[in-house]
Amino acid sequence: MDDNLLSEYLHDHIEAEPEWLKAIARNAQVKLLHGDMISGHLQGRFLKMITQMINPTQILELGTFIGYSALCFAEALDDAGVVHTIEIDDELEDLIINNLAMSPHGGKVNLHIGDAMSIIGQFEDNFFELAFVDADKRLYWDYFEALLPKLVSGGFVIVDNTLWHGKVVEPVKSNDWQTKAIIEFNERLANDKRVEKVILPMRDGITLVRKK
Ligand SMILES: C[S@@+](CC[C@H](N)C(=O)[O-])C[C@H]1O[C@@H](n2cnc3c(N)ncnc32)[C@H](O)[C@@H]1O
Repeated sequence: MDDNLLSEYLHDHIEAEPEWLKAIARNAQVKLLHGDMISGHLQGRFLKMITQMINPTQILELGTFIGYSALCFAEALDDAGVVHTIEIDDELEDLIINNLAMSPHGGKVNLHIGDAMSIIGQFEDNFFELAFVDADKRLYWDYFEALLPKLVSGGFVIVDNTLWHGKVVEPVKSNDWQTKAIIEFNERLANDKRVEKVILPMRDGITLVRKK
């Protein structure tokens, strides 16, 4: 099976990426060292579709990068909806603000520059209907524990990169802290009775979690 052909086929047969989002992605690839960290076409359309299904008013995102996924969530919200997105790298702030301005949905995104762990604590409990975890892999479990009380009962968390390039089933190097943390996150989540969960083997692995 030719993976490139299959990927091309897939992209040709799903909802198109809006032109403004395509331009934002292209800029990132050209200007940034890790421009490929964005969710991208397939995952972006998935995030939008899931948001349409849940129909939330308040969304929390950990890890904005250039604002690609935040804008995919925002696309699915009506005017009362807000995406609160947290980014630790203040050098990205101007780029994010520019990118938000390129989208007709940028007004629904509220950017917080700072450390996700401290900013999560500023929100009231039972506030968000949906959260997206996509920041520092080594802190995934800490993020999860911090955000769970902030989520309404019946709310959802989407966690990115939970198969971590397949490394979760390979022998782990002693200094590979990101892989260790993702494995530990997956283990703990699997045994956590407070939530229901399913892992989708899409892209780098996406876990969907529902708070009971
Ligand atoms: C994979 S990128 C996010 C990609 C984006 N969600 C998307 O799909 O388009 C991860 C981002 O998390 C940010 N990050 C890492 N640690 C963080 C922290 N403790 N608090 C907030 N953001 C953090 C990084 O600077 C980086 O921009």
